[in-house]
Amino acid sequence: MVTSKYCLMILLQLCTSAAYGETTMKAIIDEYPPEYCHSLEAVYGSGMMSEGGGRAIDSMFKGLNIANKKALDIGSGLGGVAYYLSEEYEMDITGLEINPWMVEEATRRTPEEIKDRVRFLTSVDNSSLPFEDGSFDIVYSKGVLCHVDEKQGLFEECYRILKPGSVLVINDWLSPTKEKWGAHVQRLIELEGLSLYAETVEHYVRLLREANFKDIEIVDLSKQYAAYNEDIARQLKTPEKKESFIRSFNEQLHEEAIDGYESIAKAMRLGEVLVIKFTAHKQ
Ligand SMILES: C[S@@+](CC[C@H](N)C(=O)[O-])C[C@H]1O[C@@H](n2cnc3c(N)ncnc32)[C@H](O)[C@@H]1O
Repeated sequence: MVTSKYCLMILLQLCTSAAYGETTMKAIIDEYPPEYCHSLEAVYGSGMMSEGGGRAIDSMFKGLNIANKKALDIGSGLGGVAYYLSEEYEMDITGLEINPWMVEEATRRTPEEIKDRVRFLTSVDNSSLPFEDGSFDIVYSKGVLCHVDEKQGLFEECYRILKPGSVLVINDWLSPTKEKWGAHVQRLIELEGLSLYAETVEHYVRLLREANFKDIEIVDLSKQYAAYNEDIARQLKTPEKKESFIRSFNEQLHEEAIDGYESIAKAMRLGEVLVIKFTAHKQ
């Protein structure tokens, strides 16, 4: 029997394929299979698919009044960032994610205490977000947009759905050279099979300005993120972490993970990858 959940999944797949083209869509989804995502969580912390945990999230919103605000999380993954912000700052958060299985898992795992103010949706088209104008106090995205080739339409949509006087906050990996990554990042791309689009700070700012954002602040977090990655590689080498990682995954993935985190830390130290925080204001 075909259940309504199964019909919904097919509908989502069809809509998503229509928005991105079937091959691209499949490639995007295939880049984040469950085992890989769970291996990220094993080092970043439950629900987290980018590094730094609560410290990195706090520094992303440093100086902003976020308590009790209504926010949209673009690329919410397994929900860890949204859970943290809702638990620590009582924010009301909608997470948008391109992978339907992550939406399902993040929804299922949402802690009981925050269920009334956190929800996750599958988004199928970055240039047409399913919200009314002026819906949010904050739109944010952590560790996602380097996967998105076409950012202009997304930034325009972010501007539209923000309330006047509110902010877009983005943490992203950038390159000093447009459309070209350095050797260490190239190695990571090959090791993990990820699509990463090399974008420069200057071009990013131009796109944000073209979408009408003003007072764009730029903070370089590369050193901080290099330290997170070095620390992760160090921890993975400890006997306890090694044993638990291999028990959950396997030896090869353990070796590849250490290699990957060391490579990316080097790339950040050498300036091949810039971890940049953009805070862009809608007046
Ligand atoms: C490194 S994870 C970060 C997830 C989450 N923000 C976090 O910090 O835990 C990147 C996320 O981007 C999503 N993603 C990949 N390509 C995308 C695209 N073209 N459009 C929107 N999201 C995408 C993936 O599904 C994944 O959940």
